[in-house]
Amino acid sequence: MEADGGKTGCGCFPAAKTGRESRNMLLFINACVREQSRTKRIAEAYLSKQKEAVTEVRLDQIMFPLADEEFLKRRDRLIAGREFSDPMFVLARQFAEADRIVIAAPYWDLSFPAALKQYLEQINVLGITFEYTPEGYPKGLCRAKELCYITSAGGHYCPEEFGYGYVKALAQNFYGIKEVKQIKAVGLDIVGADVEEIIRNAIKTGI
Ligand SMILES: Cc1cc2nc3c(=O)[nH]c(=O)nc-3n(C[C@H](O)[C@H](O)[C@H](O)COP(=O)(O)O)c2cc1C
Repeated sequence: MEADGGKTGCGCFPAAKTGRESRNMLLFINACVREQSRTKRIAEAYLSKQKEAVTEVRLDQIMFPLADEEFLKRRDRLIAGREFSDPMFVLARQFAEADRIVIAAPYWDLSFPAALKQYLEQINVLGITFEYTPEGYPKGLCRAKELCYITSAGGHYCPEEFGYGYVKALAQNFYGIKEVKQIKAVGLDIVGADVEEIIRNAIKTGI
């Protein structure tokens, strides 16, 4: 697995590869934080069964820029001029060019870690990952046909609308990725839970 998440060059964004290679590229967006992350364990089991070359983006290694007015003005100016070679768009271009997407994110506060929201704000770029039809509807520009969302939760109350449901809506309606699925392990922090068995089951049913 290639780890492309290191902070380099421009200060904020990883030196992500954006050029096409001959092998299909699976983009692994890793929003796991803990060294002993169970979500990451499930993701690694899933990735080990895939054929594509895996490019990993570790969100805990990216210093996302502050999305203040100055940032938005600069971004709008670059988008208006279709200056997509700017380092600001590296992550968006990488996402748009991936053949398949895997996101691993623990269930936090009915959603996912804020770094994933910051990532999504960076890749939602008009002209790279989506465009608008003349009628005002988003239309996907991404190459990927499938997105797999992997998560784990401590309890059993884990509604999907602010986490998986949100990512699914973006994938299908903005990015144009129609096939979206979820692999999840829940109830991991409940006293007496057989954590290994729950993880094994999630891997077995998800792969
Ligand atoms: C900041 C934070 C918020 C959490 N919020 C929830 C929650 O809303 N619902 C829940 O069931 N578990 C919650 N948990 C527990 C995690 O979902 C659970 O421990 C999960 O397996 C962690 O994934 P990891 O092992 O990949 O780090 C939270 C944990 C943390 C650290």
